Amino acid sequence: METRRDPRQFLFFIILLLLINSPETQPPSYNTRSRYDEVIEREWTHLDILNQTRWGDFGDFRKEEEGWLNVTGLRQEDGFVWELLGGVKENMREKARSVLGDRPELSSDTKQENNMEIVRLYKNMTGYVEGEWARLSSSQVRHPADLNLSTIIPDNPFPFAEFDRNLTGVGGPVRLHLAELEGKARTDENRTVSEIQAKVVIGDHESWGDNWWEFLVHGVHYPELGSAVLTTTSDKFAGIFALPHFQLSPLLYSSSQALLNRTIHETIDRQVNRMYPIWNPWSSSVEGTNDGVLGATHCELVLYLQQYGVGFQGEQNPRSPLSNIDMDWIEHELRFPDGGRTPLRSPLTMSMVGFSPDCGFVIESKGPPDYPPSKAAHLQGLKTEEFNDQARHGVLAFAVALAVQLTFLIRQAKEAATPSTRNRISFYTIAMMALGDGFAFLALVFMHLFLGTSQLALYAIAFLALFSVILELRFLMDIWAVQVTEQMRQDRQQASTPSPPSPRPATTPTPPAQPTAPLTGDTLPLPATANRDRPSTPVIISSDQDDIMEEPPTPPANPANAPAATTPARAELGALYSRYCLLLIITFFITLQFTTVRSTARAFYFNSLCFVYVSFWVPQIYRNIMRNCRKALRWDFVAGQSIVRLLPVGYFYGVEGNVLFSKTDWKALAVLVGWVWVQMVALASQEVLGSRFFVREGWAPPAYDYHPILREDEEGDTMPIGSSSTASALEGDESTTEESALQAGESKSKGKKIFDCSICAQDIEVPVIPVGGAMEGQGLGGLTLQRRVYMVTPCRHIFHTACLEGWMRYRLQCPNCREILPPL
Ligand SMILES: *[C@@H]1O[C@H](CO)[C@@H](O)[C@H](O)[C@H]1NC(C)=O
Ligand SMILES: *[C@@H]1O[C@H](CO)[C@@H](O)[C@H](O)[C@H]1NC(C)=O
Ligand SMILES: *[C@@H]1O[C@H](CO)[C@@H](O)[C@H](O)[C@H]1NC(C)=O
Ligand SMILES: *[C@@H]1O[C@H](CO)[C@@H](O)[C@H](O)[C@H]1NC(C)=O
Ligand SMILES: *[C@@H]1O[C@H](CO)[C@@H](O)[C@H](O)[C@H]1NC(C)=O
Ligand SMILES: *[C@@H]1O[C@H](CO)[C@@H](O)[C@H](O)[C@H]1NC(C)=O
Ligand SMILES: *[C@@H]1O[C@H](CO)[C@@H](O)[C@H](O)[C@H]1NC(C)=O
Ligand SMILES: [Zn+2]
Ligand SMILES: [Zn+2]
Repeated sequence: METRRDPRQFLFFIILLLLINSPETQPPSYNTRSRYDEVIEREWTHLDILNQTRWGDFGDFRKEEEGWLNVTGLRQEDGFVWELLGGVKENMREKARSVLGDRPELSSDTKQENNMEIVRLYKNMTGYVEGEWARLSSSQVRHPADLNLSTIIPDNPFPFAEFDRNLTGVGGPVRLHLAELEGKARTDENRTVSEIQAKVVIGDHESWGDNWWEFLVHGVHYPELGSAVLTTTSDKFAGIFALPHFQLSPLLYSSSQALLNRTIHETIDRQVNRMYPIWNPWSSSVEGTNDGVLGATHCELVLYLQQYGVGFQGEQNPRSPLSNIDMDWIEHELRFPDGGRTPLRSPLTMSMVGFSPDCGFVIESKGPPDYPPSKAAHLQGLKTEEFNDQARHGVLAFAVALAVQLTFLIRQAKEAATPSTRNRISFYTIAMMALGDGFAFLALVFMHLFLGTSQLALYAIAFLALFSVILELRFLMDIWAVQVTEQMRQDRQQASTPSPPSPRPATTPTPPAQPTAPLTGDTLPLPATANRDRPSTPVIISSDQDDIMEEPPTPPANPANAPAATTPARAELGALYSRYCLLLIITFFITLQFTTVRSTARAFYFNSLCFVYVSFWVPQIYRNIMRNCRKALRWDFVAGQSIVRLLPVGYFYGVEGNVLFSKTDWKALAVLVGWVWVQMVALASQEVLGSRFFVREGWAPPAYDYHPILREDEEGDTMPIGSSSTASALEGDESTTEESALQAGESKSKGKKIFDCSICAQDIEVPVIPVGGAMEGQGLGGLTLQRRVYMVTPCRHIFHTACLEGWMRYRLQCPNCREILPPL
């Protein structure tokens, strides 16, 4: 009762974590209201300009003072590098032409050309693509001082601080998550142009620690052409209002202008009617916080995308019926599967050109024709439906792995049904496994935030994970109860004086104080299960074999003590659970924090975390050494758990385009697998060669060795006593012992003796080193294996290994004389 933790502390801690992790929100105040009105006013002005301008009004800087717009970021005095825009557009036009041919939508003059190619394009680009970007030579390096920031953002506290998202390297990884959602994304009546949004995850190889950024861009998409133009919008750059001017041709200009005129109008209307202000509906920060007010200023980005035509497998075959398959039908079939077979397709592929008007960098996706197709193939990925399908398969595979893991656990728990077998299992090994499963549970529950779909399957599997966590905790509880009792018994033996019943400190994880029970040594008292009143001490070996292990001596006649016996155990249970939950939640939140740091630190954290996790056999190896026992875990449990628990790790380290988009890292994976392999080999060799074979003598505390080398010395001290020995042998009477030893073991040739195993009533032939100490013909290695055949108890009774191990699973008592046996 005293040991029970205060749950409020725990709750408080969770709330604290939640607060730390939530983005700060500020209540609107009066002067922010007037600032808000200013922002809206500026948006209306910009929309008016968008409404009135014409193709060519911006970007033609041949004459001084001409070609500028009175829009934030597009004015001459803002100092942006719009000179680069023409080159960027030309680059993009080339890329689009290579896909689409000479379409009128691509040429800057409107004369008709009939050289159009027929390409199969997805009209709905919702999905993701990833690849590498390369910096183009037309890039410039711009410093914050080059920009006229003081006029754009007058209240900027750090006018000369370097910008965020400043790509300075020559290349890096980039991933785009495109989304055009039905209902949310607005389009024109013929669906020739529609709204699109993309999350950009872009890294820079040359930045310190492989930094990366994640932000949103908004723009327009031409489903017929498969091209899109997207931009950031911020206080210093009214990107979305200038978007029509970034288009490649007058045709695209007018259709995007018509769409944006309408959508921006609607958006501003909604902004006005909101109770709480949205400062920037086109904000590029992912969390939705208002950047520019508190956050650092960042580089703007204008992004051009061109989708590549979809190829079918086997379409080169002239007789194949694939040539007249309709893309619309495929897209519909993907989204609403009707059982139709869609042909195998090439992945969703896009080329990209990005341009920062303020920071001056120009980037493009790596791919043909500048790079050989084997090295880089622009940005490739999957449509959302295909991705969800893959994710579902991954999740199902994980479910199977969990189920397999569960069966191994249940079999192991069944095997370890007795205290003596539980005593061998390392608490921490099982605890690490339980932590891993709990982590999987939390991850699955939160996974739908990343995936969006297949939630039902996720929750079903989260339930499976929770179930195995519960089983593991239950198993842990059993192990823990046994091991604490055993620890106490050992402590008592060391003190060797019975302690009076004294109240113990509240925090020590010990069962109730034992009364002054006579330490006959023939009971293994256990807490927690003491729920029956029994007269104390006489040992009755009942037919129920476990019974004797679980009966503690009854507390003395003090009636107040009786209910107290169960309470601390329950409190301990609570403490165990809350410690488990606390550790789990702390790990989870730390991990969440680490998902947003620089790539190098992130990789380091996740590698360390995985390494610690897959070290789960280490505590077991350690326990085997310390206690000199070896048969702790079933073989199928060790092998099965190792494989099954490595599977998810292998998936995230080894599979390209996995659900979490984690980067493949074969080296780290090899280290992890090798490490598990080393642990398994260590466990196996401990079982075969003895648990301490690789530990120098004297490093581990002394433990009883059940497989001693038998020497025939003068006193006969170390020789086992024969099976015919009577109770008098127990007293350690030397003469009797010697006598019986001589009686029972008849010397044979080659230094062997024959004893009698009283469990199976058959003979044991045991190698014995004769008095001279000479070993005839057999090396020490041969002896090591031969020693495994027999076991000698501290009371010097000898048995077959198999016989005594079978016996000791149920009772830690010598079958002959009921002396307590040290656990195996
Ligand atoms: C757009 O311009 C037209 C005139 O060209 C004007 O009637 C209309 O009100 C303008 N719309 C907006 C939203 O400013
Ligand atoms: C640009 O617009 C602002 C109002 O937003 C106006 O005060 C300013 O005079 C305009 N500048 C030019 C050159 O038209
Ligand atoms: C910065 O803006 C001021 C006023 O708007 C203008 O006079 C000045 O020339 C600008 N500086 C640059 C480098 O464009
Ligand atoms: C971008 O990074 C380069 C190199 O570190 C630096 O010189 C430049 O000032 C940065 N530009 C901005 C706008 O922060
Ligand atoms: C595009 O596909 C996604 C995924 O199936 C879907 O959610 C979205 O509504 C589609 N958008 C349009 C405009 O059809
Ligand atoms: C939509 O298509 C119809 C017929 O093809 C055409 O008359 C109409 O002008 C188109 N609308 C737009 C906005 O292009
Ligand atoms: C923009 O929208 C307004 C109505 O909101 C309309 O009167 C005007 O003609 C539109 N301008 C263009 C260029 O489409
Ligand atoms: Zn036997
Ligand atoms: Zn014995």
